[in-house]
Amino acid sequence: MASGGGSNLQSILDYFDGGPGAAAGVRVALVMSDRAQCGALDRARARGIETRVIRNDGTEPEEEVVRAMQNALDAGDIDLIALAGYVRLVPASIVRRYEGALLNIHPALLPAFGGQGMYGRRVHEAVLAAGARVSGATVHFVDEAYDRGRIIAQWPVPVFESDSADTLAGRVLRIEHLLYPAAIEAV
Ligand code: GRF
Repeated sequence: MASGGGSNLQSILDYFDGGPGAAAGVRVALVMSDRAQCGALDRARARGIETRVIRNDGTEPEEEVVRAMQNALDAGDIDLIALAGYVRLVPASIVRRYEGALLNIHPALLPAFGGQGMYGRRVHEAVLAAGARVSGATVHFVDEAYDRGRIIAQWPVPVFESDSADTLAGRVLRIEHLLYPAAIEAV
């Protein structure tokens, strides 16, 4: 599930489809997005992967969001969900159904610099504002709150005096692309 550019999705596709994880037998069967247009959907379509757009910005009745998601997950026979830059809250009934099989990647070292509204640039701005000397990426199981579930894997990166939110984001994103596919394979 993705909302943005989909570079993490791309790293997952590259890893399992002919890459280092090719022997794991993991197949990306579906890419779901809350946005009709985003890079993640383009990347999925370029690989011939099934896509589904399900709006989930709090204006649709939750039962409808859940029904649409369940149908898509059932149709794709989905065993594991990886949130890859998905910026909406996953409905609680989906979280419960996929307990232990619903993962997220966050661009900081949780439990610091997480929670509602902490995504994208804001995470890196907060890290810089706090004067932290280390940041990184965290892969964790998803529960019913933002960024709170059990941690699966982390990878630290240094924060330099000269960093801007953009340079730090770039450094973190490069290791996200290494960490997330490996964590998915491990789960
Ligand atoms: C990544 O930094 C990820 O950690 C966060 O959102 C960003 C998504 O980037 N959850 P992309 O869409 O995978 O390029």
